[in-house]
Amino acid sequence: MKSSDLGLCNIEDLRQIAKKRLPGPIFEYIDGAAEDGIALQHNREVYRSLKIRNRVLKDVSKRSTATEIFGKKIAMPYAISPTASAGLMCEGGEVALARAAARMGVPCTVATNSLTPMEEIVEAAGGNLWFQLYMWVDKKLRAAFVERVKSAGFDTLLVTVDGSVGANREHDRKNGYTMPLRYTPRLIAQVLANPGWCLRVLAPQYLKRGAFRKANFPPELSSKLTDKPTDHELTKPDTQCWDDIKRIRDIWPGHMLVKGLQSWEDVVIAADCGMNGVVLSNHGGRYLDSAPAPLQVVPEVRRAVGDRLKIIIDSGARRGSDIVKAIAMGADLVMSGRPTLYGAAAAGEAGAYRALEVFQTEMDRIMAQLGLNRVDEISPHIFWNPPDWVPRPKAARVVEQIASRASAVFPESVR
Ligand SMILES: Cc1cc2nc3c(=O)[nH]c(=O)nc-3n(C[C@H](O)[C@H](O)[C@H](O)COP(=O)(O)O)c2cc1C
Repeated sequence: MKSSDLGLCNIEDLRQIAKKRLPGPIFEYIDGAAEDGIALQHNREVYRSLKIRNRVLKDVSKRSTATEIFGKKIAMPYAISPTASAGLMCEGGEVALARAAARMGVPCTVATNSLTPMEEIVEAAGGNLWFQLYMWVDKKLRAAFVERVKSAGFDTLLVTVDGSVGANREHDRKNGYTMPLRYTPRLIAQVLANPGWCLRVLAPQYLKRGAFRKANFPPELSSKLTDKPTDHELTKPDTQCWDDIKRIRDIWPGHMLVKGLQSWEDVVIAADCGMNGVVLSNHGGRYLDSAPAPLQVVPEVRRAVGDRLKIIIDSGARRGSDIVKAIAMGADLVMSGRPTLYGAAAAGEAGAYRALEVFQTEMDRIMAQLGLNRVDEISPHIFWNPPDWVPRPKAARVVEQIASRASAVFPESVR
């Protein structure tokens, strides 16, 4: 299926198809959030609340959404966030995401907990791949794993630090969809109620590779989804601290980021630890339910660290206009997790690509409507009547705007 033939106009369309094609507990696992879903909803509300003004009669025929990050050109200021479950969306789900990203020309982040080995994803997809690390308690194991990530060819490492205690996702508990997985009659019944998914995803998996496993786990660790990890195997221990980050910094020569920050104080520490970037994230509302939307904290973080490191945000972006708004707020790049999962569930690699295409074409259209030709022209001047957490346009830009208005209104002889 060609992505342009899918007839799916936006991310919500992909979500609706994903809902039909996935067993209920799996859809709720990707779509749902912690506790009351306050952060999940707030992430969207914040994007929706910002109004942007059009500018007319400007030549935007040579506009481009392209930019660069860490020295590499990318098709738009966007990357795919790491997600543990892509392999449940379609057969070889992680490869589907990575291939879609390579085709679009944006980075894709491979998760520690992916169901396909990292080496296989690199081999099958190529492109600009980043790796997301969860830190095992066992420091030797962790160091060996970082070496493996390096040998696999990744040059950007993103360490996720916001999950040191388990998330309170009540819908997963009610569905019996918790790790370690237990095959309860209710769960089995809900999976079998979706024979299409069993044929498309489950059967090929069992025939080709056996049971789903955390495919990146070293052989000495239990990798079956049904195994209970021992304390020393835990990937998100509550003992983790900045010293762990510094140790990884010492052995990782490439670009390194920490993901899951919400406070400017932590970003200052990240910069002091030699990070090249941070991902401001509330994990898509999946952990701290009363967290601020990352979009809102960008300005205070930017004020605190300036240009010392890249400020990336995720959580809640669903439209090309959201990317434009985030860049105007001061972010360098936007990531998202669920949109490409919905796409992969809806139509495999073509569906994941469709999600990226939606972001890119919408961003392109919005840039034209705002009279912008380049990503570096996107700034707070685009906002209409912004709330007080939005940065004000730079004074120079205001003067420029007044001057251009004057030149349009008054003939040269009067000026
Ligand atoms: C199903 C699912 C699995 C995820 N697994 C991981 C993971 O293994 N590692 C990680 O750092 N983040 C993980 N995340 C969080 C995403 O990287 C990202 O922060 C989040 O999806 C952003 O919100 P959005 O989905 O609204 O874009 C996961 C998110 C979802 C929805």
